[in-house]
Amino acid sequence: MDELFEKIERLKEERNAVIMAHNYQPPEVQDVADLLGDSLELARKAVKTDADVIVFAGVDFMAETAKILNPEKTVLIPVRNATCAMANMLRVEHILEAKRKYPDAPVVLYVNTTADTKALADVTVTSANAVKIVEKLDSDVVIFGPDRNLASYVARMTGKKVIPVPPDGHCYVHRKFTVEDVERARELHPNARLMVHPECEPEVQERADLIASTGGMIRHAPEHDEWVVFTEREMVYRLQKLYPNIKFHPAREDAVCVGMKAVTLRSVYESLRDMKYRVEVPEPIAEKARKAIERMLEMS
Ligand code: 13P
Ligand code: SF4
Repeated sequence: MDELFEKIERLKEERNAVIMAHNYQPPEVQDVADLLGDSLELARKAVKTDADVIVFAGVDFMAETAKILNPEKTVLIPVRNATCAMANMLRVEHILEAKRKYPDAPVVLYVNTTADTKALADVTVTSANAVKIVEKLDSDVVIFGPDRNLASYVARMTGKKVIPVPPDGHCYVHRKFTVEDVERARELHPNARLMVHPECEPEVQERADLIASTGGMIRHAPEHDEWVVFTEREMVYRLQKLYPNIKFHPAREDAVCVGMKAVTLRSVYESLRDMKYRVEVPEPIAEKARKAIERMLEMS
């Protein structure tokens, strides 16, 4: 492992490369990353980097976002099968159909979407800024996809009418958490507070002490000394490393995102060594998607 770390460090210098990683990445990939964050933080950091090469340790829509914002840079994803099941649920036809029914409603898309659907968005959002952005939009009705739970959270917080596209878009990892998990967490850890990602089901959200994106969880963690974490399991590693004096418990050990875990330290090394796999987004699509992402960055 140490040998791989050293090889990666050497290649990073040779290629003027930066490794960006999402908070759900396996521990050893988090440890080798230069920049870690939630989807919003990573999009912001992607705009600022002056590296020539970005190795994106995350799922495909995140690497695509980095490429769309940096068309002149080389963006690599270490494996081809690192994908987000929820992003793949939304199709162009779902959006076109909703637009026919609600022609005046802006299309607000979670960044967890493919580039061709992002190209149809008026603005993208992440779980960190969705409420703020929908509040600012000059419309009481919005088309919102693909996460139904984030959509209902936004509707609750803004009082606006939110039309979910597709009707049942969801994340299989966050759907695992149930009210029984909440009750068990309260029983096992009576002094702990519960931090819950807005992709969880509404009945789990209702029982939370904090609803936040993974970046929000990091910011709010110092407010208490013990937490149960309702999101992808590796978030506990990230939080524990940042705050060794706070206790964090995963709400479920089996809350694992297969796409995120497809990336390994070896694949990061091979990616830098062989300059693979290059992320490409056709420019006509990238141009439209870029407008929606840039609008998000301006509004948040
Ligand atoms: P964050 O933006 O909170 O990091 O979430 C991304 C994601 O994929 C959650 O499942
Ligand atoms: Fe997609 Fe869910 Fe994995 Fe996040 S945890 S990347 S929403 S499948």
